[in-house]
Amino acid sequence: MKKHIQIFNNTAELSQYFAALLVNGLENTPEGRFFSIALSGGSTPKTVFDYLANFYRDKIAWHKVKVFWSDERCVPPDSSESNYRMAKESLLDRVPIPASQVFRIQGEADPVKEAIRYVEIARQNLFVREGIPVFDLLMLGLGDDGHTASIFPHNRHLFYSESPFEVADHPLSGQKRITVTGNTINHAEAVVFIATGATKAEMVANVIKKRMGWEQLPAALVNPESGSLFWLLDERAAAEL
Ligand code: 6PG
Repeated sequence: MKKHIQIFNNTAELSQYFAALLVNGLENTPEGRFFSIALSGGSTPKTVFDYLANFYRDKIAWHKVKVFWSDERCVPPDSSESNYRMAKESLLDRVPIPASQVFRIQGEADPVKEAIRYVEIARQNLFVREGIPVFDLLMLGLGDDGHTASIFPHNRHLFYSESPFEVADHPLSGQKRITVTGNTINHAEAVVFIATGATKAEMVANVIKKRMGWEQLPAALVNPESGSLFWLLDERAAAEL
């Protein structure tokens, strides 16, 4: 696993680097093949999506991109809490990705049935290695409690699930989530954590430096075996590195 820790002055520079990862990945994707990306929810990913829509609408071969999600809240697609709605409004409605290449997690569906359905969607539309769907680029945020996707410390056993996607629940609200699990995360060609702001600094350092108790932190379990791991941070989030 190749680890890259990149620290930026601001979210625009961070977004520029993320865009370059996409451009580079697509340049290495043969015509007729697709580049698969799993999007994360969260405020920082939203700034990246806005940047891509504003500056890369005509600079990325969007027709070669297949879009999935790392996780989704079990809410309707028009809910203000929907990761799909956030990505749709900030990116997908603003770039020419064919609708047939956008694979939404159906937050309005029965969670157990949807997790099963989404596993099949992933398997049908992605390269599969050892029975595990392989994303070209899997985007992750970092929660203040060390969660990533929707794997929280209280349900970190989900990281080791045999199923590529599972039903999870938020520790405070109990809200049901559909989340990617650890084997699939760690089979991705590239895993890209995005974290900004001073509130992330302690947890970023806990995870990257594997400070005491790191084993309880789902984000610290991310370790793509043959892929690359990127940490895209602003200076505030990197302050304790
Ligand atoms: C979600 C996300 C979650 C998020 C982190 C960081 O559905 O909420 O997938 O894992 O990425 O909580 O969110 P912020 O970037 O907004 O702090």
